[in-house]
Amino acid sequence: MTGARIGVIGAGYVGLVSGVCFAALGHSVCIRDIDARKIDALNDGEVPIHEPGLRELINEHAERLSFTLSLEELLGCSDILVVAVDTPPTYSGDADLSRVMAVVEELAMIGGESRHILVMKSTVPVGTGERVRRQLDARGLGAVGYVANPEFLKEGAAIADFMRPDRVVLGAFRQEDASRVAELYAPLDAPMLRTTVPTAEMVKYASNAFLATKISFINEIANVCEEVGADVADVAVGMGMDSRIGTAFLRPGIGFGGSCFPKDVAALKQLAGNSGYHFQLLTSVIEVNELQKRRVVGKLKKHLGDVRGRRIALLGLAFKPGTDDMREAASLVLAGRLLAEGATVVVWDPVVHDLDGLSGVEIAATPTAALAAAEACVLVTEWPEIVGLDWPNLVSMMARPVIIDGRNALDPETMAQWGYQYEGIGRLPGTNHNVAPEA
Ligand SMILES: NC(=O)c1ccc[n+]([C@@H]2O[C@H](COP(=O)([O-])OP(=O)(O)OC[C@H]3O[C@@H](n4cnc5c(N)ncnc54)[C@H](O)[C@@H]3O)[C@@H](O)[C@H]2O)c1
Repeated sequence: MTGARIGVIGAGYVGLVSGVCFAALGHSVCIRDIDARKIDALNDGEVPIHEPGLRELINEHAERLSFTLSLEELLGCSDILVVAVDTPPTYSGDADLSRVMAVVEELAMIGGESRHILVMKSTVPVGTGERVRRQLDARGLGAVGYVANPEFLKEGAAIADFMRPDRVVLGAFRQEDASRVAELYAPLDAPMLRTTVPTAEMVKYASNAFLATKISFINEIANVCEEVGADVADVAVGMGMDSRIGTAFLRPGIGFGGSCFPKDVAALKQLAGNSGYHFQLLTSVIEVNELQKRRVVGKLKKHLGDVRGRRIALLGLAFKPGTDDMREAASLVLAGRLLAEGATVVVWDPVVHDLDGLSGVEIAATPTAALAAAEACVLVTEWPEIVGLDWPNLVSMMARPVIIDGRNALDPETMAQWGYQYEGIGRLPGTNHNVAPEA
């Protein structure tokens, strides 16, 4: 089926990218958000998020795309409704489903004889689909279909991930609903798993929890490497050569952040706990990750002694390169810790230019300004703009050329040759030339 009529609810990182990609596949797509600033921006030709290639794709397929604040308008121009609203963590660590349930409420208010299929792309705990199904049935919307279709795209590479997915997962109550949604993806010729709604929901949580576990695992290996004089970069390459292990997600660093891993790991742990199962492994994954972010402060102290009154530059704020997403970014924890210890913190990022909620941080206009007179620098996000800085000439601008490479993105030997006191994560100075491939 080409030319389906799709309505997307939520114009965030997932909704906007998915909607635009569906339009690129030949479908007619209307995207709705409740945030007037986003919809106004989109209607004015602006893109409210930083995602490489998105602006160009929107322009290319503008005739099949529209943006609205109105649910009525959305329902009028669609047969399939893709839900991509946010599901942030609550204080307890459970996923907050209020936005998902608000969508169901709104549909019930104006749904009438709606025969739409709701396609759940938001990450929701196991059991949510069944809960939504009950709500729809109770509100006279029994004809509305429901398909769990978790999304696996990564910010910064979201378009390529959507267009060339490792798999499309569809969980449905009625096979004909799954078949209609499968047709939307037909042009991608992607591997497809068709299963039950709870199983599809679990695939998403289990996948993110496993990837987070891999990161915490290699971070702990890195920490042990530091104690015993091994080099984690070579260890990771050697491990990755084993096809049973694979190379992905074996890059040690200062911990995982972002809008998905922290909340999804916490939500799966809570989901298990609420069902009476203590998910011990995930408790450790979370704890290792929190400690990993704070280890940088220990590394700084090793070089500087007390950090009080020291000027420390943080390069990179976003939780990963290629995005402006600051949710659960390691930079927030690091800046907060350093400020609490009395350091002067100056930051620079190529796309993030403010730090909401962190007063007291100085925002530099350029990386050079951030490094000027700094007594140490922490590479927080491995943006190419940061990795490719003119490091040989910047060294003389710093008051002390201490660099903590939180992403193992720079070559230790070369940095030492240029006069830096370099420290990475689990690396032996002078021995490492191998870097595990990017995940
Ligand atoms: N960001 C990612 O990389 C990623 C990847 C895979 C899955 N997910 C999951 O996808 C979901 C969306 O994530 P995101 O990062 O795109 O979130 P986001 O915060 O960027 O976007 C969500 C959007 O939904 C809008 N919204 C909320 N309630 C609405 C309503 N009733 N009607 C219309 N719009 C509404 C918000 O205004 C916001 O613009 C989450 O469940 C997330 O876990 C995210």
